[in-house]
Amino acid sequence: MTINPVFTGATPLNPVAPEQQFRDDVLVGLAAAQKFIPAKYFYDEIGSDLFESITVQPEYYPTRTEIGILDASGPDIAALLPARANLVEFGSGSTVKVRRLLTHLSDLAAYVPVDVSESFLRSEAETLSGDFPHLSILPVAADFTRPFTLPEGLSDGAVAGFFPGSTIGNFEPPQAVHLLAHFGRVLGRDATLIVGVDLVKDKAVLDAAYDDAAGVTAGFNLNLLARINRELGADFDTSAFAHRAFFATDASRIEMHLVSLRAQDVVVAGRRFSFAEGETIHTENSYKYTIERFRDLADQAGWNAAKTWTDAEQLFSVHALTRR
Ligand code: TRP
Repeated sequence: MTINPVFTGATPLNPVAPEQQFRDDVLVGLAAAQKFIPAKYFYDEIGSDLFESITVQPEYYPTRTEIGILDASGPDIAALLPARANLVEFGSGSTVKVRRLLTHLSDLAAYVPVDVSESFLRSEAETLSGDFPHLSILPVAADFTRPFTLPEGLSDGAVAGFFPGSTIGNFEPPQAVHLLAHFGRVLGRDATLIVGVDLVKDKAVLDAAYDDAAGVTAGFNLNLLARINRELGADFDTSAFAHRAFFATDASRIEMHLVSLRAQDVVVAGRRFSFAEGETIHTENSYKYTIERFRDLADQAGWNAAKTWTDAEQLFSVHALTRR
């Protein structure tokens, strides 16, 4: 069976070609006092594969811990959702996690995976429909951070959202509040939202999770420079930069940087940028919350905390929120 994603994302009047946007964003970021590159550019094909490998590194506890929590809390989550509900996943990717939920949600009416990658969306939807033949699968090709409308064909039951992976932690806290409020508008009245949130913990555990011994996260970070070389005609010497990731306790976030190992100039799309030895490009943040801090964030976005599940070691949390 072929499932075609519908496009319900708002189309800007003058859409900028993606390559052009990539170039503009990189040039703006490299010209800033603290150089930065938006994290969304990690995910070309090589980057997406490297990311999948990060999630199975022994030091990277979030993925396996969240899956364990979803497995254990599945019956609880099922009990929270009314009959014939519809489940919308924001940034569905490889659908590994939602499968764990779907096995518990036997009377779910429809699953709506939302992802920017149309090809990924189509292939995942097809395998999923083979495994869950009674579930109506209604993919939407859209950037989940932008306004979009839910597809036709939902049951008139309740709507629930699913946002795993602690992706919420990759947004600055004020932006995270906006995003959660936006999810509320997309899902509508009486919605429930299931969100995965990584927790504050020992710095050594956090530092190791983002700097695994096998060097996969380092390769993932450095692939950004290789991608810029490939796609924007740049001359980054990737051996002259190093991955650096650390938990900044005061900001309660992991910061990922690429450190210039020597003074050097780099040309990107015809523009020259100078790096001092030790100067960094900031590539990602991953905020870590306490349960209370996250509930407060959700509260600011109009969501009440209904229930929270964690693992025995309190490494990770899954929250059920209900909309006020
Ligand atoms: N949101 C997850 C996290 O912050 C996954 C993730 C996003 C990630 N970007 C990353 C993991 C970069 C490692 C490196 O952990």
